[in-house]
Amino acid sequence: MNSFDFSTKIASKRFENPIFTASGCASSGQELSQFFPLSEIGAIVTKSIMSKARTGRITPRMAETPSGMLNSIGLQGPGIDLFLERDIPWLIENKSKIVVSIAGESVDEYGVLARRLRAVQGISAIEVNISCPNVENRGQVFACQPDTASAVIESVRRNIGGELPIIAKLSPDVTDIVEIATSVIKAGVDGLALINTLLGMVIDLNTMQPKLGGKTGGLSGPAIRPIAVRAIYQVHQAFPNTP
Ligand SMILES: Cc1cc2nc3c(=O)[nH]c(=O)nc-3n(C[C@H](O)[C@H](O)[C@H](O)COP(=O)(O)O)c2cc1C
Repeated sequence: MNSFDFSTKIASKRFENPIFTASGCASSGQELSQFFPLSEIGAIVTKSIMSKARTGRITPRMAETPSGMLNSIGLQGPGIDLFLERDIPWLIENKSKIVVSIAGESVDEYGVLARRLRAVQGISAIEVNISCPNVENRGQVFACQPDTASAVIESVRRNIGGELPIIAKLSPDVTDIVEIATSVIKAGVDGLALINTLLGMVIDLNTMQPKLGGKTGGLSGPAIRPIAVRAIYQVHQAFPNTP
């Protein structure tokens, strides 16, 4: 039975419903497809992909917290070539709507990734994960300053061409999230994804050492839900027409 219309649009692209996976929580959908047909959800947002294959950060990469978890996966992934050769065809075969999340270490890397994706058939949108350290600027996270956030989006916009919608994924680790939203909207995004994880740290009281190999990690889960609700509320107040 499918008598309700939950469909939604981002720019020109239509999605059957607004339920999308959170990037990094379902890889490229293979494991999730054991539980239900991927065509039943609005889209699979793939794990953020970078130009080159990456092994990620040292283990342990997960730490439980009282109401959530910390992860420091470090954007482990196959790199764009293998992703396009292996994961995209698999998702298309499984009739999934695809939102490709991209991540880079420089403004140029985001542009290169956008250029690689522009001619790929079967993609419904690009999500730009700007919560990454900029190696060209002392590791400052792109998402934390309006100028670097917008520089990334401008680079993606220039290189993507056509009408593929661009979604910017914002970090809550900022003083004023509306300021960042303003900068990426001016730079040409069609939609926003809120929120990425918050930077956190857990100490093992037995060893007095950080529990994560990489020391710090991203906090997710019920602990951050009120922060997400607040951030969405603030941004929606400022930009009621931006999905
Ligand atoms: C293990 C793990 C890996 C993640 N990887 C990515 C990623 O590659 N790109 C990204 O934009 N967000 C990534 N995230 C962040 C999630 O997409 C989401 O924004 C975050 O978990 C907050 O939502 P939640 O509290 O509902 O989990 C990851 C989160 C987790 C837990």
